[in-house]
Amino acid sequence: MKHTRKLVFICNGSDCKQGGAKKLYKELKGLTDEPALKGTCKFIKTKCMDMCKTAPNVIVGDHFCKKTTADKVLAQIKKS
Ligand code: FES
Repeated sequence: MKHTRKLVFICNGSDCKQGGAKKLYKELKGLTDEPALKGTCKFIKTKCMDMCKTAPNVIVGDHFCKKTTADKVLAQIKKS
């Protein structure tokens, strides 16, 4: 059986926190708790990714989401 859980890295550095990273994390957790997506994603909080000007930053697989929102990240999760 193929392991299909996607890794989503959410920056938790100070600039991204100010940019709403905590809220973004909570929103994403809520959105991926829906039955269709439950158990398909693993969220990992990271330290600063050195891209603070584009906060909040999230990496989905090999895609970098800059100045992102929960909806944009969710769309990327579904795409990848
Ligand atoms: S704080 Fe997120 S990239 Fe620096």
